[in-house]
Amino acid sequence: MPTPRQISVTVNGTVYESTVEPRLTLADFLRHELALPGTHVGCEHGVCGACTVLWNGRAVRSCIMLAVQTDGTEITTVEGLSKDGELNAIQQAFVEEHGLQCGFCTPGFLMTITEMLDRNPDPSDEEIYDYLGGQICRCTGYQSILAAVRNAIEKKKAAS
Ligand code: FES
Ligand code: FES
Repeated sequence: MPTPRQISVTVNGTVYESTVEPRLTLADFLRHELALPGTHVGCEHGVCGACTVLWNGRAVRSCIMLAVQTDGTEITTVEGLSKDGELNAIQQAFVEEHGLQCGFCTPGFLMTITEMLDRNPDPSDEEIYDYLGGQICRCTGYQSILAAVRNAIEKKKAAS
């Protein structure tokens, strides 16, 4: 039996000290140890993107990362996007443009779009398609998601 490891990780601004099994995935750590179920688990092998979180600002698939890898780092999950109960610009744009149906894929899209707009605040449609190419949605047909991204870009421009 592998020896459990002590980790210290900041998630959505809160520092957590935990003892974890070396094989525990980051997704399971977030969902089951920290009670943050907003990170969804679909394929469990890095394909669908539902489990995407930000790791030191980079979008990563938490189903194929281990919790021990996050020792001393910062994670943002979908629960960390809203502030004081207010949806942020990207979340609000998804509501306005009906960028979701069942919502299973939505946390992954929101986190990936967050990273994309941090890196490139005004991407072309081609760049958006390219960036979101690894996120799978079975419901929306993607056009409403693209509309939500464009809406979020306009909201962010208006706020800056
Ligand atoms: S659940 Fe992680 S990529 Fe699908
Ligand atoms: S809204 Fe259902 S999978 Fe995307």
